[in-house]
Amino acid sequence: MARVENKTAIVTGGGSGLGAASSELLAREGAAIVVTDVNAEAAEQTANVIRQRGGKAISLEHNVTEQGRWQEVVAATTSEFGDLDILVNNAGISGTGGGPMEDVAFEDWKRVMDINLDAVFIGCQEAIKAMKVSGGGSIINISSIMGIVGGAGAAYNASKGGVRLLTKSVAAYCGANGYNIRCNSIHPGYIWTPMVRNIVQFVEDLATEDDLRRMLIEKHPIGRLGIPEDIANGVLFLSSEESSFMTGSELVIDGGYTAV
Ligand SMILES: NC(=O)c1ccc[n+]([C@@H]2O[C@H](COP(=O)([O-])OP(=O)(O)OC[C@H]3O[C@@H](n4cnc5c(N)ncnc54)[C@H](O)[C@@H]3O)[C@@H](O)[C@H]2O)c1
Repeated sequence: MARVENKTAIVTGGGSGLGAASSELLAREGAAIVVTDVNAEAAEQTANVIRQRGGKAISLEHNVTEQGRWQEVVAATTSEFGDLDILVNNAGISGTGGGPMEDVAFEDWKRVMDINLDAVFIGCQEAIKAMKVSGGGSIINISSIMGIVGGAGAAYNASKGGVRLLTKSVAAYCGANGYNIRCNSIHPGYIWTPMVRNIVQFVEDLATEDDLRRMLIEKHPIGRLGIPEDIANGVLFLSSEESSFMTGSELVIDGGYTAV
């Protein structure tokens, strides 16, 4: 029996990086996937890969900051595949890659909060409404090591720290109400995705992506950066019954970044 057989998952930001890898792995382990992304073409590409490998997937254009669209996405999911069992709140941005605290524009701060934190709140709310009537589910919020320690930039850190504690509140609320909905966060170290490669333009003294890569590897005791599949494995675990005693937890997958 596959590890998430007969389950249905929504993965936001599923058109790239961690979201694409998580969608593909959940599908390989038996789940039907609704791949959503603000970039509709990218979402469809992931869904297409899944279908070509014999899995079940559809794609939907979805800006996670729009509450009305969330309701449509959940409705489309249940009408296509039945009950919603898994939500992976993965979509996120790095903003200006941090930048000096004194220089961050307030508009940039608000945009990062909107996508990285407010949208996760909306997603949790809509998932709870759907999952509580179908008997339960698992919500996985992609936070960051930057939600545990400071460093990358004020807005990004604050948004990911917010996701960490929002997750615990959702877990406590759902538990207290007997909803059988688990909610956990994942805290990736640096994973070599378009989001991270993009940082090079914001860091002084870094000429190339190779310079960035070398600088980042040094911060991970394990001696390498992560790959999207490292995080997808965590998503799969938290989606499956293997993690049935976990809720409100922080799953740190960071090659030792926060250990030193
Ligand atoms: N890559 C890392 O090192 C790393 C580390 C820690 C946490 N994270 C988190 O993991 C998540 C995925 O990051 P990634 O590295 O795969 O990034 P990525 O840039 O490769 O992919 C992010 C996806 O989110 C989508 N997206 C952006 N804004 C959106 C919006 N408003 N609505 C819907 N979709 C939107 C993008 O179109 C893109 O497909 C993010 O939340 C990020 O903060 C990444």
